[in-house]
Amino acid sequence: MNSNASTFSFNDFLSRYPQYNSSPVLNTLREQEYQRLDARNQVYLDYTGGGLYPESLVQEHADFLLTYVLGNPHSQNPTSKASTELMKQARADVLRYFRADPDEYEVIFTPNASGALKLVGESYPFQPGSHLALVADNHNSVHGIREFARHRGAHISYVPLEPQTLCCPDLRPYLENRDETKPNLFAFPAQSNFSGVQHPLRAIELAHELGYDVILDAAAFVPTNRLDLSQVRPDFVPISFYKMFGYPTGVGVLIARKQALRKLQRPWFGGGAVRLVSTKADLYILANNHEAFEDGTPNYLSLPAISMGLRYMEAYNVDRIHDRVMALVGYLLEEMQKLVHSNGAPLARIYGPTDTDSRGGAIAFNLMDAEGHFFPYQLVEKEANDNGISIRAGCFCNPGAGEFSLTITAEEVRKCVKQATTDGIFDVNAYHKCLGSKPSGAVRASLGLASNFEDVARFLTFLASFLDREATNAEGDHYC
Ligand SMILES: Cc1ncc(COP(=O)(O)O)c(C=O)c1O
Repeated sequence: MNSNASTFSFNDFLSRYPQYNSSPVLNTLREQEYQRLDARNQVYLDYTGGGLYPESLVQEHADFLLTYVLGNPHSQNPTSKASTELMKQARADVLRYFRADPDEYEVIFTPNASGALKLVGESYPFQPGSHLALVADNHNSVHGIREFARHRGAHISYVPLEPQTLCCPDLRPYLENRDETKPNLFAFPAQSNFSGVQHPLRAIELAHELGYDVILDAAAFVPTNRLDLSQVRPDFVPISFYKMFGYPTGVGVLIARKQALRKLQRPWFGGGAVRLVSTKADLYILANNHEAFEDGTPNYLSLPAISMGLRYMEAYNVDRIHDRVMALVGYLLEEMQKLVHSNGAPLARIYGPTDTDSRGGAIAFNLMDAEGHFFPYQLVEKEANDNGISIRAGCFCNPGAGEFSLTITAEEVRKCVKQATTDGIFDVNAYHKCLGSKPSGAVRASLGLASNFEDVARFLTFLASFLDREATNAEGDHYC
């Protein structure tokens, strides 16, 4: 291993980032709640993929289920009424946690953030003359909304990213092109799931001024940042709870402003969402609150765990979690940039901000050899796997940030899609081969609630093992 990477000292880290130690309860959390990580010698750096569940949350939920009797909330018996009460409680807890006024906001439970986004997309009253404006840094589940918009004749446009910062140009020129008499929708992520960039929340107010409804995708933001809906007032906020506190999977939420919700027109109805359906009169009447958007039987056994998970987040205080995670991220960014080959060439190309300004806890990068040739992201991932380090590699369902940071042009995409498609069958590996020597994906390390200094030091030591090695072209299968 190159000598410039042999030690990452805790004392040095602490002297540079004393805020890491400012919350004593967080220091003991790893041992109390996430002991399994160390027992299994695992370094987990994929919190944007999914948070890790604390032991006490799983235990509390299991104890709860083993104590109470819960029935389908669509019935009217004692066990179903108990479920209904718990769902009501979970809705109130979500509003309280995000400081949302219950008179202004509604809570709709969904299977995940994607489910919440699809609800908005399929129901938004796009029409010819409407404008859907999307920041290129959105997740695929946001981009997908454009297909609903296109189908209904709306105009679709993208706000590009500044190539260096992977953040945000002045939005006004991109949003001004709209007809205020039509329904217009603007969607952006509070935090990029690719680069960790945090897009300024003041965009919400500007978009409102210009007559847009706003989707704020908060899925990657809320695990380590406070979203305060008494300070900013987006119309639709999709969230997946497993990203916040790791458990349970399968429950997300759409927090929606009531006035925006009233504009939505559902394209179908399902069990639980209707007050009346007639087969003979061929009519139906939807429920008039969250129920109209929750199809079928809700995940009623899991919803009490959402209340418990939010209490857990409250107990540890997301602002303190944020400070601690950003201390680790700041150190990681600095040390990654100090990793240089013997000829002085840098090992890592980091995409987006190289310091902690305007970013959260995810870092996207590629590794290069001394001659500037890229190590395939698949190789970095494979070797991380072999070392018990969980990272993410590829495009992370965020093609826009990928295209901007990896400088892939629309012409290249079109040309390579054509070249890689035979008889209607698309070969993803042929597509990436066509893109040539450019990396077509990246590596992402994302930190969270249970991350500690040892994780970061082990990861840096792993990265340093690439110093003074030669990059080969041996790529594995592509998956983005
Ligand atoms: C910013 C962002 N939006 C949306 C999603 C989709 O979340 P889910 O897969 O839970 O639906 C993700 C998942 O990584 C995300 O990071």
